[in-house]
Amino acid sequence: MTDETGHYDVDGFLGGSSALTTTIRSEVRPVDGLDLLHLQCHFGLESLSFAREGARVTGVDFSPAAIEHARLLAAQAGIPATFVEADTQELPTSLDGQFDLVFASYGTLCWVASLDAWFQGAFRALRPNGKLILLEIHPLMLMTDSASPLVFGSVYLGGAAQVFQWEGTYAGGAASVSQPAVGYPHGVGEVVTAAARAGFVIEDLTEHLRDDKEHRPDVLVRDPDGWYRLSVAGQDLPVAYSLRATRAA
Ligand SMILES: C[S@@+](CC[C@H](N)C(=O)[O-])C[C@H]1O[C@@H](n2cnc3c(N)ncnc32)[C@H](O)[C@@H]1O
Repeated sequence: MTDETGHYDVDGFLGGSSALTTTIRSEVRPVDGLDLLHLQCHFGLESLSFAREGARVTGVDFSPAAIEHARLLAAQAGIPATFVEADTQELPTSLDGQFDLVFASYGTLCWVASLDAWFQGAFRALRPNGKLILLEIHPLMLMTDSASPLVFGSVYLGGAAQVFQWEGTYAGGAASVSQPAVGYPHGVGEVVTAAARAGFVIEDLTEHLRDDKEHRPDVLVRDPDGWYRLSVAGQDLPVAYSLRATRAA
């Protein structure tokens, strides 16, 4: 399996390297022995990287193609993991209370209309004292079309459906594809409020001014230290945020 965008290093993964970035590792402690639910796992590269480090992983995505590729990749890599085709706003009740850690990263909530449904599902899936770690693209970066000059292409928050033309796919192999897509802008406050409303105890919310993955090649600049930043008028703006929350006992 190849990835023509270069966004995903599948060959490197099959050769033994991990898809877990420095930023992900700074948020997630060792997962060995944990039951881990990966929401919107796409084709499972991060899921299988966690599984390789000893987690018992279940990945969920609503794309049949993504789930099929995840299962193929697991077989190819010889890593046991379970992949479930489901909408993260309607997680199967069979997942309830099964996990120590729910993880989701980069480009998940912007596709979800109901934050309440998403966080309620994540909450139900956890055992008492289980943790949620969400590492997301910052909505400020998502709404930015150009850093210089500064141009915004959408709104910051509110959750109203935004229809836009999607050029290519982040899955690779179809760079010439152009198709309408629907996204839902959720501000950081709305995200944290939905988590609290679902019953989570919020432990930490961190906004990151740099990332080691180039989520928006059109607006991010790679600095000499190797980190990607969104710099506007000499100031670094947040490119990602991480939310750590617990389902209390
Ligand atoms: C940008 S990818 C997630 C990135 C992932 N962390 C990775 O590195 O591959 C977004 C994924 O969300 C999935 N998705 C979008 N909306 C969903 C929903 N409501 N339920 C389940 N999966 C969804 C898409 O199919 C896609 O695989």
